[in-house]
Amino acid sequence: MNRPTMEDIVSLSKRRGFVFQSSEIYGGLAGFFDYGPLGIELTNNLKRLWWDSLVHYRDDIFGVDGAIIQNPLLWQASGHVAGFTDPMVEDTVTHKRYRADQLAGVDTTDLAELSKLLKEKKSPDGNPLGEPRYFNMMMQTWVGPVQEEAAKVYLRPETAGSIFTNFLNIKETMRAKVPFGIAQIGKAFRNEISPRDFIFRVRELEQMEMQYFINPKDQQEVYDNWRAFAWNFLTERLGIKESSLSWHEHGETERAHYAKAAHDVYFNFPQGPKELWGTHNRSDFDLSSHAKASGKDLSYLDEQSGERFTPYVIESSVGVGRMLLAVLTDAFTRDSVAGEERIVLKLHPRIAPVKVAVSPLLKNKPELVSFAREIYAQLKREFGMVLWDDNGNIGKRYRRQDEIGTPFCITVDFESLANQSVTVRDRDTAKQIRINIDDLPQTLRQKLEQN
Ligand code: GAP
Repeated sequence: MNRPTMEDIVSLSKRRGFVFQSSEIYGGLAGFFDYGPLGIELTNNLKRLWWDSLVHYRDDIFGVDGAIIQNPLLWQASGHVAGFTDPMVEDTVTHKRYRADQLAGVDTTDLAELSKLLKEKKSPDGNPLGEPRYFNMMMQTWVGPVQEEAAKVYLRPETAGSIFTNFLNIKETMRAKVPFGIAQIGKAFRNEISPRDFIFRVRELEQMEMQYFINPKDQQEVYDNWRAFAWNFLTERLGIKESSLSWHEHGETERAHYAKAAHDVYFNFPQGPKELWGTHNRSDFDLSSHAKASGKDLSYLDEQSGERFTPYVIESSVGVGRMLLAVLTDAFTRDSVAGEERIVLKLHPRIAPVKVAVSPLLKNKPELVSFAREIYAQLKREFGMVLWDDNGNIGKRYRRQDEIGTPFCITVDFESLANQSVTVRDRDTAKQIRINIDDLPQTLRQKLEQN
């Protein structure tokens, strides 16, 4: 099987401008990454598709963009101050800290079970381990000029918080009726004990979250629908292979403190099958907790039935960086063209960071260059991310575009001057067709849509 290693993905990401280590010239900082020119285009495409599917194509989901720092009472009521923890264990000699469940190789947060399992284990440095204990992952800072306890605030650990606190605002301003949802894309922060596996587990992450507010009697059906949404989005919208995905249901000791049920879509990452996208039944945990702590009535009156209830929440939550890692891994292919090995990113054209590359066959022939420049300018106006590439011979240019997943390469040659045509090369088949430049935008439009 042609699966890439994590090293393949890390190296491609750096070499081609998808992802860089943050503050790299200072040695970086564990768990923090910067996105380069192609990484931004790719994540923007992922976010746009997600936003379109939820907010633009439906009339029951509304967007919000909450602040990263909120009143800390929010995080007390949500249970994060007390319960947003991971089990941690310390090397008794080096005092390095590790995720206890990862060292034990199990999916549980139960301390007694972890303690038993870790008795026989040593730290990665070969030293005895202490007793596992819980570690709160919320990052803290202060607001105002004095660094005192009363000024302490948290960087949000999930975007969901401001969705719950805006429930009333959005219900009222958008005249929303249950069932309805609120969607948000934004940064969240987690002081992960062991950030690892490149951008898989980071300390500053971006989430795409949607909370759907429902009548509790509909919980099973709605939960199943949002599970299906996650799977279908990955396979149909992003073109991820079904064989790369699987389901994982959270056991009792694995679920977050707010979840009554949780199913993850697992993706077969280079380090193995791991969580990509979570669907959670949060019951009325959040609205009831916030109602109690804030003193505001967050119940809902169904005007038709006259029934009053606190809505349940079905949550759909996925990390943008993790989604990018999944699409890169799924698309990464090694094959050969005319006997020559190549790396090609078989990204769905819908998400490819660059849609089209334009080249003159020879860069020292002004008539080819100026004709190619005209086509480039015209396509750029319509397709946005169109690249000009005249570096090296044509074979090298194709390899370079293959590696970043550019679906189509257009070359202007001497025949172009004679009959106003260009060649269009398909990334996946490496086959070329010749088309008249008047038909070019329409042909590309169709190909980018169809694929
Ligand atoms: N509001 C629910 C929530 O935050 P979660 O399972 O903790 O649930 C949701 O996170 C998604 O966010 C995960 O499925 C994953 O895609 C992403 N995610 C969580 N922690 C992450 C981390 N440390 N680094 C990168 N992505 C992360």
